Amino acid sequence: MSDYLELVKRRESCRNFDPNRPVEKEKLERCAEAAWLAPSACNGQPWRYLIVTNPELAEKLRPLMMELKMNKFVQNCPAFAVVLEESTVLKVSLSQKFKDQDFAPIDVAFSASQFCYEATEQGLSTCIIGWHNERKIKELFNLPKGTRVRLILAVGYAATDKLRNKIRKPIKDVIQYYE
Ligand SMILES: Cc1cc2nc3c(=O)[nH]c(=O)nc-3n(C[C@H](O)[C@H](O)[C@H](O)COP(=O)(O)O)c2cc1C
Repeated sequence: MSDYLELVKRRESCRNFDPNRPVEKEKLERCAEAAWLAPSACNGQPWRYLIVTNPELAEKLRPLMMELKMNKFVQNCPAFAVVLEESTVLKVSLSQKFKDQDFAPIDVAFSASQFCYEATEQGLSTCIIGWHNERKIKELFNLPKGTRVRLILAVGYAATDKLRNKIRKPIKDVIQYYE
């Protein structure tokens, strides 16, 4: 059994990818399998992944994450996973209504998280990207109206092995124990 907390500590958002190191298909397949196996409300699995390594397509996708001079680092990133949220199955819609919760984005986030941690386990680096032009990405992939583009996961090899210190609120401010 590997040390999951160590893995959690090793994952960080990479904004410095090595442009000369493509990602092996087998590694992307393992990440995809981890994403696919994620838990979801009523096992609704409202996610779908478009995994882009095709250089021409990646070149069309990159500017759609770079509006207003954001996310310049994607220029050097060789692979992307576009994380879609698809319409929720009836059972989930009903329980969402009763519980006043939108489970689908929660499910998608769990799945995307599993993708990223498997990537870390494979020695890859990732950056979760929420700053993207959803409308244009939907056009690029000819996606149906009800589909949401929730995230894009930039995936590649980091140009440096050095990890940053994690910047987080003090743990006592965010975790409360009732013993
Ligand atoms: C939903 C979501 C959207 C994000 N969007 C971006 C983004 O567009 N660009 C970016 O550089 N980082 C993005 N991030 C990464 C966060 O900035 C990062 O996770 C946070 O600062 C903590 O740093 P760490 O991931 O290195 O631990 C996003 C993260 C999440 C969870």
